[in-house]
Amino acid sequence: MNFASDNVMGASAPVLEALVRANDGAEAAYGADAVTARVEQRFRDIFERDATVFLVATGTAANALALAAAVPPWGLCLSHQEAHVIDDECGAPEFFSHGAKLAGLPGAGGKLAPATVADYLAGLSSSVKQMPPSALSIAQVTEGGLVYRLEEIAALAQICRGRGLKLHMDGARFANALVALGCTPAEMTWKAGIDILSFGATKNGCLAAEAIVVFDPVLAETLAYRRKRAGQLLSKGRFLAAQFEGYFAADHWLDNARHANAMARRLSAELAALPGLRLAWPCEANEVFVILPRAVDRALKGAGAVYHPWSDRSLADGDRVGADETLVRLVASFATRSADVDRFIEVAGGALRREAAA
Ligand SMILES: Cc1ncc(COP(=O)(O)O)c(C=O)c1O
Repeated sequence: MNFASDNVMGASAPVLEALVRANDGAEAAYGADAVTARVEQRFRDIFERDATVFLVATGTAANALALAAAVPPWGLCLSHQEAHVIDDECGAPEFFSHGAKLAGLPGAGGKLAPATVADYLAGLSSSVKQMPPSALSIAQVTEGGLVYRLEEIAALAQICRGRGLKLHMDGARFANALVALGCTPAEMTWKAGIDILSFGATKNGCLAAEAIVVFDPVLAETLAYRRKRAGQLLSKGRFLAAQFEGYFAADHWLDNARHANAMARRLSAELAALPGLRLAWPCEANEVFVILPRAVDRALKGAGAVYHPWSDRSLADGDRVGADETLVRLVASFATRSADVDRFIEVAGGALRREAAA
C-alpha cells in the first residue's frame, strides 16, 4: 500500500526492453545518436509542431533550464506558492537563471486563477528598482492534483501575452493531465499558448527521462549550452532517448496514465463514500487529497500504508483541517495494484466503524 509518490515504483517493462535494445553496438555520443534523432522527431509528431527538444534526466533540470531560458537574471517568474519550482528544487531555477526571482501566488488546489495573476501583475510597479515580470510557470497536473482546463490555460496565456511574459508548463505529470482532459498534446500546450514545456516521463514509467519541449524558437537558442553547463547532456545519450522510445511505443505512456488515474479515481470515490472522511478537493488525475481523522491515519499506517502529510495552504477559503484530523496526499501510479486500493479502503472503513462504535 505505497501511495507516497509516483516515483516510488520502478520502470515499466516496455521502457526497460527499449533500453536493452538500445544497448547493442556503437552509437554516436552526446545526443548525436540515431535513437535521439528518432525520439526528437517523435516529439515533433506527437506535438504536431516543429518544436526543439532537449532530453534531460530530472524534472528539476527541465524546469530550471526552461525557466533560465525564459527569464533574465533580473526577471520575476510568477508561480503558485506551493509550486515544485518554488518549494522543491533547492533554488535551481534561481541558480541556473543567475538570479531570477520566483513569486508565489495563492490558489485552491495548487491552481492559479487568471484574476489572481492579473491582479498581481496590476499591483507591480514599473520602476527600475523592481524586477520585471518575465514568465509565468504553471504545473499541469498542479501540486494539488488538479488539472487546468484548456480555456484556463488560454486565459492565463492571454494575460501573459498582454504583459510580454513567457508561459512555462511544468508537465511532470503531463500524461495524467492529458488523458484526464482527453485532448491532444498540441491542444494542451502551444495551441493554448504555452511557450516552453517540461515534459515528464519518469513518474509515469521511465527510469529517469524528462524533456524540455520548446515551442518558441527564441527560447531554444541558448538551451543546448545551458544543458551542457548543467551537466545534463549525457555522453551515452541513447539511453535517455531509448526510454522515450519504449514510453511512446503503442501509446504505452497513455495506457500507464489511464491506469494511474483510474486507480486514484476509485480510491477517491470510495474514500469519499465513507462516512467521516472528506476529500480536501476533487481528484482530477492520479492524486487524492483527503482529510483523515487521526485515528484512521494511525490505523492505516499501522497496516503498512505509506503516504505523505500535505499542507492545508491550498484548501479553499473557509475550509480547515480540525485538530483531530490530518490532510494527506495519496498518489497512484502506472504500477498501483487494485488490491492495494481495496485494502486501503478496507482498513480506513474498519477504523471508522471502530471509532463510531467507541
Ligand atoms: C510538480 C513537479 N514538478 C517536477 C517534478 C520533478 O522533480 P525531480 O527533479 O524530482 O525529477 C516533480 C517531482 O516530484 C513534481 O511533482
